[in-house]
Amino acid sequence: MKKILITGASGQIGTELTELLRRTYGVDNVVASSRSFAKNETVEKDGIFELVDVTDGKRLHEVVKKYNIDTIMNLAAILSAIGEKNPQLLWDVNMNGLYNCLEVARETGSMVFTPSSIAAFGPSTPKDLTPQDTIQRPSTIYGVSKVAGELLCDYYYNKFGVDTRGVRFPGLISYAALPGGGTTDYAVHIYYEALKNKKFTCNLNSETYMDMMYMPDALDSILQLSEADPSKLIHRNAFNITAMSFCPEDIKNEITKHIPEFVMDYDVDPIKQEIANSWPNSLDDSDARKEWGWKPNYNLETMTIDMLEKLKIKLNL
Ligand code: SER
Repeated sequence: MKKILITGASGQIGTELTELLRRTYGVDNVVASSRSFAKNETVEKDGIFELVDVTDGKRLHEVVKKYNIDTIMNLAAILSAIGEKNPQLLWDVNMNGLYNCLEVARETGSMVFTPSSIAAFGPSTPKDLTPQDTIQRPSTIYGVSKVAGELLCDYYYNKFGVDTRGVRFPGLISYAALPGGGTTDYAVHIYYEALKNKKFTCNLNSETYMDMMYMPDALDSILQLSEADPSKLIHRNAFNITAMSFCPEDIKNEITKHIPEFVMDYDVDPIKQEIANSWPNSLDDSDARKEWGWKPNYNLETMTIDMLEKLKIKLNL
């Protein structure tokens, strides 16, 4: 029986993962935590909730012991665009936070799931069908923390036998909670604006291709990899996974099929554009497919239908 602690439970992934894990493993077996009270009431009220700042190792330890936790889903992280504004904060949360989770896991024998990202790649990485094992020289502090995190998780597995696992998430698109300051956020905001104002100003240029994924697939990947037979895992951490690759024009055209009056213009943010240019256009996720059966269900077309339907209900339109 699993006893799971989720850090960063009020974030974009954490909000939905908390609900899914409570449904899958039982409300009493999931502890949601966040450094401040959750913006989303269900995370806080519909089960166990604790205030935990991952940079506070003592507090993390206390909560892991209190609930006999055996699985830590470490989702507390600062994203790429915010990180460029405050690199010191990013390092503290992303690196010291992960280190604290790994240390607690080493002491208690827990498993740790940590997401990495397409941001773990950089300008010198092959851009198309980016291989699982390739050049990783990222140019953002977020990317640096992700590469260091991947290596640290491998180290804790090899040195101490901590069961560490992780995927490299692409941009995640979802309707329950907004993303917290990343470069791929435009692909979420575009749906809100298309429904509310029929108009969107994109902060990346029309040709910017990046990997993307709909949240239900991202959640499936976490469950699947956490449950995967460890003897089949060659990589363990940092699996490339993807569901689709598109540019702003592609997503605009898809939305226009449902909202014909939708228009989009561009006001490029140079910092975000530089970050996006340094990331791959599309990942090769064949190792994840081979080692633990990864397979996404949504593409741009089916995601757009579902996003628009769910957001209309959320926004009372
Ligand atoms: N979605 C993240 C970001 O844009 C990438 O992992 O920062």
